[in-house]
Amino acid sequence: MKGILLAGGTGSRLYPMTKTVSKQLLPVYDKPMVYYPLSTLLSLGISKVLIVTTPKDKDSFQALLGDGSSLGCSFSYAVQPKPNGLAEAFLIGADFIGTDSVALILGDNLFYGSAIQKQSPSAGFTGGLIFGTHVQNPERYGIVELDAEGNVKSIEEKPKTPKSNLAIPGLYFFDHTVVEKAKQVKPSARDELEITDIHNAYWKEDSLRVAILEQGTAWLDTGTVQSLSKAHVFVEAIQSRQGVLVGSPELAAYKEGFIDLPQLKALALNYKDAEYGKYLKRWIDEQ
Ligand code: DAU
Repeated sequence: MKGILLAGGTGSRLYPMTKTVSKQLLPVYDKPMVYYPLSTLLSLGISKVLIVTTPKDKDSFQALLGDGSSLGCSFSYAVQPKPNGLAEAFLIGADFIGTDSVALILGDNLFYGSAIQKQSPSAGFTGGLIFGTHVQNPERYGIVELDAEGNVKSIEEKPKTPKSNLAIPGLYFFDHTVVEKAKQVKPSARDELEITDIHNAYWKEDSLRVAILEQGTAWLDTGTVQSLSKAHVFVEAIQSRQGVLVGSPELAAYKEGFIDLPQLKALALNYKDAEYGKYLKRWIDEQ
């Protein structure tokens, strides 16, 4: 399975912080936001990742993440000239996807917990899989309504009158037919190619599965000042109380067997005396 990390958009809800800096390069506690979704993809065993950014930010992402080879991975880059909507990722990434299945993760979505690995599909799966999780402000998200048997009844993007409070987090799995489906999507009233239209296309084909995020999985969307601030506190609390490093691509690459312990040690040394490097070194010493 391949991975697409969508890290474009205007970040306008975080102005003035994001006037000159991409939202996904802002720090979440001790590391850039993009580290978190990237680590999630790697922790799912995905080593081939396409990072989609705005034209102006591409060089910065490339300088930060490189070609992935030091992590035993392959990172490539593409630009989205305008924020035309999440579903455009599959048009931009059509050649990259080819005949493989693909996981799309949003660059401002942070997942924590190991259940997500268990709940995610394996490489050869067909159809689509999305997650659902209960939220208090459903009008802000893509929302899925299920019947008593757990079958999908409706999927809507940011409904004014939500039919459920089951939000769809920004991690989606699709087979390669997603590219053809994305070609059929028309711009919505807010002029975006909506990801929920992709979900609906799979649902109409009866090939969409909805997995409820297991308890113990934390999902944080860092797209607003308040949620970004909560994410800092969350990461700080987990790291200082449990001594684990959250959102480390190096650790994820090691745990997935993309790199070995000597390679991980060498990567940790690059951080010299930064907190991030100290966490990594402590973790390595405990092995
Ligand atoms: O966070 C989960 C929600 O993400 C889902 O429940 C919604 O169905 C989905 O539409 C999306 O809603 P948001 O309002 O949070 O999307 P936003 O416009 O903030 O974009 C999410 C990320 O994708 C953000 O990091 C910017 C990036 N993006 C966004 C657009 C519209 C792009 O890279 N390109 C785009 O065209």
